[in-house]
Amino acid sequence: MADTPKAQFKPRVFSGIQPSGGLTLGNYLGAIKRFVDMQDSGIETIYCVVDMHAITTWQDPEALRRQTRELAAGYLAAGLDPAKSILFNQSQVSAHAELGWVFNCVARMGWMNRMTQWKDKTAGKNAEAESLGLFAYPSLMAADILLYHATHVPVGEDQKQHLELTRDIAAKFNHDYGVDFFPLTEPVIEGAATRVMSLRDGSRKMSKSDPSDQSRINMSDDADTIARKIRRARTDSEPLPSEARGLEHRPEARNLVNIYAALADRPVDRVLAEFGGRPFSEFKPQLADLAVARLAPISAEMARLMDNEDEIDRILSRGAARAREITAPVLRATYDIIGMVGPKRI
Ligand code: TYM
Repeated sequence: MADTPKAQFKPRVFSGIQPSGGLTLGNYLGAIKRFVDMQDSGIETIYCVVDMHAITTWQDPEALRRQTRELAAGYLAAGLDPAKSILFNQSQVSAHAELGWVFNCVARMGWMNRMTQWKDKTAGKNAEAESLGLFAYPSLMAADILLYHATHVPVGEDQKQHLELTRDIAAKFNHDYGVDFFPLTEPVIEGAATRVMSLRDGSRKMSKSDPSDQSRINMSDDADTIARKIRRARTDSEPLPSEARGLEHRPEARNLVNIYAALADRPVDRVLAEFGGRPFSEFKPQLADLAVARLAPISAEMARLMDNEDEIDRILSRGAARAREITAPVLRATYDIIGMVGPKRI
């Protein structure tokens, strides 16, 4: 192996989001906005609505259909251009499930047991009653990525461990079969908003599954609701510091500043140079105005698209057809490597 030249992998971006509920500001800033920024980088970009991941926990079929289209609408409304990026839903490209199965046979139980998301999702619950899919979830995620030989995966902080596992699966596959077939993918976790926190508790992630709606901004919230949630966001009583160092032990203040920086596309230092020394009573209304200015056009466009389901479905089908073209040879080569007998090439 040591003497075999390393395969060259063409730079390619892949990422996905679960249609398991409404979109939050965390999904927008930590994922969608960055996906859209990357589509103009000159690298091929592929984005997925991971509906097969969503069913690892119970989804009402009607709700799943709506959430899948809503998420696709969210991607498009935020600026994803189907002429520049491939957009599709995972279930329509069966190679994902097929490679996912192969990876279930590569990944080890011990690796899966160490996944902190699995531990968090089952904490205080009866893990025995969870679906096998929820446990195996990260190996399907590895399949999503490696099926495209993706080299870069933009995600929020919470997905870091899953990307390390993806590298472990790629390395074990390459090692076990003596090939250099799957790349060791790089996570791209950059910017001010890779971990947007709850508005009620600076130690918890903003999440669509938090029982309190006040803890998050939903992409579907109207302007008044956004402004109210920001006004009521928990903070301390000190004015804002003038340098990032001053945010170190102030998680709630840091979160609001990070949100502002990400929405404004400005570095944190510049935001603090402007607002340092000023109280939250002055900063919060400015943040609310900025959030409404950025999010309102996106939610209006999402609503317009949701009235045109056929348009969304057409875009997803076209994306799936392009994704199938990329993945079919990769799956065929994988089967070949592992010894599956298939149709003769003529
Ligand atoms: P999901 O659906 O939970 O989240 C989608 C993306 O949003 C990011 N995110 C956040 N970023 C910053 N702050 C937050 N509060 C926040 N909440 C969510 C997530 O980090 C993620 O990037 N397993 C994945 C979906 C997936 C995937 C993939 C991702 C399946 N296959 C292949 C990349 C590549 C998940 O459950 O993300």
